[in-house]
Parts: sequence; structure tokens; C-alpha cells
Amino acid sequence: MSQTIKAAIVGTGFIGPAHLEALRRLPNVEVVALCEVTQELANEKAKVLGIPRAYTFDEMLKQDDIDVVHICTPNFLHFAQAKAVLESEKHVICEKPLAVKIHEAEELVKIASATGLVNAVHFNLRYYPMVRQMKTMREKGDLGEVYSVMGSYLQDWLFFQTDYNWRLEPDKSGDSRAIADIGSHLLDITEYVTGLKITEVMADFSTVHKTRLKPLKAIETYSDTKLQASDYAEVPINTEDHATVLLRFDNGSKGSITVSQVSAGRKNRLNIEIAGSKSNFEFNSERPNELWIGKRDKANEQLMKDPSLAYPEASALISFPGGHNEGFPDTSKQMFKEVYAAIAVGKQPENPSYPTFASGLRELIIGERIVESDKKQAWVKI
Ligand SMILES: NC(=O)c1ccc[n+]([C@@H]2O[C@H](COP(=O)([O-])OP(=O)(O)OC[C@H]3O[C@@H](n4cnc5c(N)ncnc54)[C@H](O)[C@@H]3O)[C@@H](O)[C@H]2O)c1
Repeated sequence: MSQTIKAAIVGTGFIGPAHLEALRRLPNVEVVALCEVTQELANEKAKVLGIPRAYTFDEMLKQDDIDVVHICTPNFLHFAQAKAVLESEKHVICEKPLAVKIHEAEELVKIASATGLVNAVHFNLRYYPMVRQMKTMREKGDLGEVYSVMGSYLQDWLFFQTDYNWRLEPDKSGDSRAIADIGSHLLDITEYVTGLKITEVMADFSTVHKTRLKPLKAIETYSDTKLQASDYAEVPINTEDHATVLLRFDNGSKGSITVSQVSAGRKNRLNIEIAGSKSNFEFNSERPNELWIGKRDKANEQLMKDPSLAYPEASALISFPGGHNEGFPDTSKQMFKEVYAAIAVGKQPENPSYPTFASGLRELIIGERIVESDKKQAWVKI
């Protein structure tokens, strides 16, 4: 492999450009190409984003100099695209969820492991330095035994009946929405930080908007185009706007999560509180430079992100001194740093530090059991 690793990005809606920006902050990576639905759109996007080459997906796969492909398309495309990338002997970083069905994710894990190629799933929220700090503190015994976990992930971008996106259509998004879309990040962080496995779930969903008004003409995200009543079709919605899930863990402890995409004013708020026998942790992704550490026998602590105050494992994810805030875009940069170190070597390490296709499969299994539990209104084993 040449010294500079050459990358391509498939899908340049919201998260594709976030991958691009993160990659541009790494010294040994060059994003040489992008793919879009049509050649015309690809050309247009390449111009806007300053990427030299534009392809449709199949054309991009034929380019021998591309080492790694980032898949940033709607969920239902991940399986076929990730499989094709591996089969063309390129490393792959796929957006979450890895696929929409468990058997698809299982197949991807199998193929990836047979090829030895680097495979990662973009569970980037693990890469907030304070999340790594919680994990490291737990590993070093600062938390003690885990008593309980309480988590939530709240958004409001689907609050109005007129809010519409492909994520509301199960053939594009999968059978679960709020849980698959954002609950997956929270469940991933829960197991990552605590080191525990979720063994059973009990879920209760609600679809607040039983129908939504789907725009009949394309409108750009965040544009202020005003639509008339006749510009919408009323369509039924059968995935969850909101979910509450009780959790049981393999050490006997319990937890719960609440996930909602219709919580006014909550823009993108992952909150996790982990109670242990020595202390409590609370982390909130809207204030990602802070970690609250609760104590029973002395004053509580507020740890500010600062490389000189964090454990070395967490400092490794910090690029700026204390008081210089880092946030969402930095999580992808920190994750790609670890993934591209593996790509530079040329193969998936035995114990990758980053989330892999196996992590993607794990979240699909938990997600599917959660959907099953809501349907049965009963506890379901993972
Ligand atoms: N990790 C995170 O924090 C995070 C955040 C947002 C989205 N995501 C994930 O990223 C994926 C994309 O989400 P988004 O919000 O960017 O969606 P989006 O709708 O904004 O963008 C999707 C892009 O894919 C393109 N596309 C569609 N079909 C294609 C095809 N066949 N070939 C090439 N391009 C194609 C679309 O034209 C569009 O540009 C989803 O799976 C989502 O779950 C992850």
C-alpha cells in the first residue's frame, strides 16, 4: 500500500461530509473519490466538497488505487454495499446500523473475517474522551461494582407531523427506528463502558404520530421552502417515535433506557448515568467536555476534559488542551485515527480498539430482541 491511504465515501447527505471532514484532519489519508445515486449528482457533490473524482458505486469499486470505502448511505443499502466492498478487496467503514437484518450482519462478519480486511462500524459516540474516561475508570476500579444503568437518547427533529425522512420507511430503515437509529449508540456505549452484557430486555414502544405528512416534492434539508396542504400525502407510520426498555445485565444488575425522536428541545442528547459501589458517573453528549462523578462520602466531582487530568487511554482521544472544547466532529476523527492505524498495517487486528462488524451485529441482535419484546409485551432473552 502507498504511504497515503486513499479513501472513497459513498453517500454524501448528512454524515458522509462529516466523515470527509474527519478524514481531512488525519495526516496519512486522502479522500480521492465519492459516490452518489447518479453520476450527475456525484459530479455536483464532488465539486461542492472539493473531492477530485466522482463515481457511481460500481464504477468506484473498479478503481484499484482506492484502499478503503466509507459507507454513508441509508440503512437498507449497507449490507449489499459493504459486501461488495469486501469482495473487491477494500477495507470498509460502515455507518450504523451495519445492516437491517441479523442474517445479513452475520454474513458480513463472516466475509470480513475470511478476508482479514479492516472492518469498522461508525459507533463514533464511543470516542468522546469522557466516554473512554468512564470506561477506563471502570476498568481501574474507580466505579466499583456496577449497580445500575439509566440512559436516554432524546431528539426533536421528528417532533412535528410534517417532519419526514427515509428513516420513517421500514423498507429503507428497517423494522425499528428510534432504537435502531439512536438507541443503538446508547446500547453500544452501555456495554462498552460497563463491560457488562445485556442478557434480557423488556420494551414498550409508542408511535406518537400514527400518520405523517410526506412531502410530495423534494425539499432540501433545512431549506425554508413553504409547502401547501396539497403538497403532502398522509402516510401511516409503523415504527417507534419513542421507546422505553428495561435491561438486565450478566452481573445481575438492572437498567433502563428511554429513546425518543419527538422530545421538544432535545436536539441530540445522549445521557448515561452509571451507578457503582464506589461512585456514580453521568455523561451528557450535549456537554461532552464534562464528566460528573458522584460520591456518597465526600463532595461530588466535575471532571473537565483536559489531557493532563484524564487517564492516558482517554487522553489519547484528546487533541486540544483543557478549556478548548471538542465535540461531535472530533469523535469521528479520533475513531478514524485508530481504524486507519490498522489500515496502514493492512489487516484487522486481533483485538481492535474500535467498533467492528461484530459490534454492528451485536447491536442488531439486541435491537431485534427489543422489537420482539415490544410486540410480545414480555421479557425476551438476548
Ligand atoms: N454515526 C452517526 O452519528 C450517524 C449520524 C447520522 C447518520 N448516520 C447513519 O448514516 C447513514 C446515512 O444517514 P444520513 O443522515 O447521512 O442520510 P442522508 O439521507 O442525509 O444521506 C444519504 C446519502 O446517500 C445517498 N445515496 C442514496 N442511495 C445511494 C446509492 N445507491 N449510492 C450512493 N449514494 C446513495 C443519498 O443521495 C444521500 O446523499 C444512515 O445509515 C444513518 O444511520 C450515523
